[in-house]
Amino acid sequence: MNICVAGLQWGDEGKGKVVDVLAERSDIVVRYGGGSNAGHTVVIGDSRFALHLLPSGSIRKDVTCVIANAVVLDPEVLISEIDGLTERGISLEGRLWISENTHVVLDYHKREDQLREESLGKHKIGTTIRGIGPCYADKVGRSYAVRMGDFRDLKALKAKLDTILAYKNKLFGALYDAEPVEAEAIFEKCQAYAARLVPFTTDTTEFLHTSIAAGKSILFEGAQGSLLDLDHGTFPFVTSSNSSSLGLPSGCGVPARMVDKYIGVIKAYTTRVGAGPFPTEQDNEVGDFIREAGNEYGTTTGRPRRCGWFDGVAAAYGVKIGSVDSLVLLHLDTLTGLKELKVCKAYEIDGQEKTFFPANIDRLAQAKPVYETLPGWDDDITEVTTFDALPAKAQAYVQRVEEIVGRPVEMIGVGPKRSQTIVRQ
Ligand code: IMP
Repeated sequence: MNICVAGLQWGDEGKGKVVDVLAERSDIVVRYGGGSNAGHTVVIGDSRFALHLLPSGSIRKDVTCVIANAVVLDPEVLISEIDGLTERGISLEGRLWISENTHVVLDYHKREDQLREESLGKHKIGTTIRGIGPCYADKVGRSYAVRMGDFRDLKALKAKLDTILAYKNKLFGALYDAEPVEAEAIFEKCQAYAARLVPFTTDTTEFLHTSIAAGKSILFEGAQGSLLDLDHGTFPFVTSSNSSSLGLPSGCGVPARMVDKYIGVIKAYTTRVGAGPFPTEQDNEVGDFIREAGNEYGTTTGRPRRCGWFDGVAAAYGVKIGSVDSLVLLHLDTLTGLKELKVCKAYEIDGQEKTFFPANIDRLAQAKPVYETLPGWDDDITEVTTFDALPAKAQAYVQRVEEIVGRPVEMIGVGPKRSQTIVRQ
């Protein structure tokens, strides 16, 4: 069975934990997009693993990991993740494959990201400054792009970097009055990256098709969430890739119909980092409660996340564009202790009630959430292992979310550990 796991909100839904749980039944786990802007936290026993580029399944020693074409790969981050896991006795040797067509994030991309954000002042996107946008822009522009396959021919790479840096330095100087980046220093780093990463590089599209033909189970892991999708999210406050499951086919060369099941991950509330409209945001004591109870601080940047009520309109949109079959609802335990819970079931825009999410931000900015209020619960649910053992009010909350979003919830998270997961029969 081939399964895709993607977030249905603005990222940080907890996909890492879901992928880690499902990876137990998979042979291969594939990252199909995004870069080190993502942060996936997996907690096993007392160990906490924060991964940015390696698929979350990499912690399981018998799983093969693939970083596919549409990922933008920062070699420095990847090497430090490989070394970090190796130090903890988890080797990636012989079970990590990186596409030779994956684009590479280098220091000048991060520099460009930072310079651009600073120059935009209050109009900035609020990126993670991981060089994601500039790297994807170079990919689309083609002339100044570096891919993993380029590490195989260092002489040609040296000439390419000279051309790229001549262009970038003119740009940095003219637009931002910034110091030039030295091509030689970047090349030296690239030599070291090549020595470490070329052995992992291959044609991952061939590998995936051969594996599917051989009956292997593949888990495709999305990064970020559907509402951050470049084409279908809240542009321009999005990331630079197709972060919904729509990015899977183009991202790794495996057609959508070869995937048997699409799982959408949601949190029991909504969060967002960076700028952009967020209709159910609670910039008040409710938002503060959720942030502290759910530890809603960025894995990658440490930024406090904006928090708000569950937005059923937004999640239902993620279901529609992502052909989602079922849901995983995480962080139910975070809501414990709130007297009343609100869920947004529609938006009021221009005096009309709408249930289809407007990805156009001018319309979204006008959306007034139409809420339904449900009673909260006080009981600690972090040790609960079955749906029936949840307090009746928590069960009712989950059921209402299912009705509004239109898909069944098959798994519920009641804490960060692997073991704190309720699987519904
Ligand atoms: P970028 O992907 O770094 O260019 O950032 C663009 C937008 O996507 C910003 O609002 C970021 O906060 C957001 N973003 C990028 N990656 C993540 C993530 O993994 N979780 C949540 N938000 C993200």
